[in-house]
Amino acid sequence: MDIAELKSVAQAIVAEQKGILAADESGPTIKKRFESIQLESTEESRRRYRELLFTTDGIEAYIGGVILYDETLRQSTRDGIPFAKVLAGRGMVAGIKVDQGAKALALYPGDKVTEGLDGLRERLAEYKQLGAKFAKWRAVIEIDERDVPTPYGIHANAVGLARYAALCQEAGIVPIVEPEVLMDGAHDIERCESVTSQVLEAVFAELDAHRVAFEGMLLKPNMVIAGKKCSRQASVQQVAEATLRCLRRYVPAAVPGIVFLSGGQSAEDATDHLNAINLLGSHPWQVSFSYGRALQAPVLAAWRGQESNAAAAQKSFFNRCQLNGLARAGKYTRAMEPSN
Ligand code: 13P
Repeated sequence: MDIAELKSVAQAIVAEQKGILAADESGPTIKKRFESIQLESTEESRRRYRELLFTTDGIEAYIGGVILYDETLRQSTRDGIPFAKVLAGRGMVAGIKVDQGAKALALYPGDKVTEGLDGLRERLAEYKQLGAKFAKWRAVIEIDERDVPTPYGIHANAVGLARYAALCQEAGIVPIVEPEVLMDGAHDIERCESVTSQVLEAVFAELDAHRVAFEGMLLKPNMVIAGKKCSRQASVQQVAEATLRCLRRYVPAAVPGIVFLSGGQSAEDATDHLNAINLLGSHPWQVSFSYGRALQAPVLAAWRGQESNAAAAQKSFFNRCQLNGLARAGKYTRAMEPSN
């Protein structure tokens, strides 16, 4: 394992102003996103959409890495250039989602565990050949009113993440470690902080036990935030303070970057929260984004599958990337939003 090489890839992805575009929606997830704009999900419509994203002028100033799905890593532009090559040519690192989804954890009702370790060593070798330099594995932690997640549910997910991360580093691929505490549900911000703390503590203990080099990985956590159905929503400042307190306690300073998921927040909230967290700096790690919905929702709404809307969709994508780039430095304000 060449830790210096892993570290330099991780650092390039979260270089100044930069973050990650998560464009690794699985078949069922992208189908759901396309349904929201009445577009049929076919191999060609998915290819056209990803081409629109990846070829948007100027995003390379704000996007250091792009997470792809298996199908997308094997696809090309309409002119026949593989997407991984298009991204690399513009200084953006290609990554790959390698988990195979969260399933019910047997005998633990309510807990989930992520599958995908079988054959992972061989899949990583192939993905590397195809141009991927980093990978992603998402563990899903749900919160219910009572006793979910259980300590064993947290442990099982931490072990899965650590086994995946070790296999990635063995293969010379930077692992993005994503333990997502969901914001669905009615829990308050205090419960989210408590669960996120337990999860991060368990994850770093397992990463250490599995000999993962913290210098050669990125962490993709949820922000500490109230559940969507909670009647007491936290302010932007409260989210920023709780998130940072939790990360400072549980994330080693050796980790080069923390890249948040958006998890169902609106595009504006996700940018505002990132901005507020960066304003509380300086931090031992780069604090950035790895947004899926918060970068793409406005793009899909502008595009709606129509070629005639492509330019407007790319403009809205560039705008979202730029605003998040500004939030990296605490220089974003809501007044910058186009509708204001
Ligand atoms: P969201 O930002 O839409 O949560 O997606 C990020 C991601 O990659 C989830 O695994």
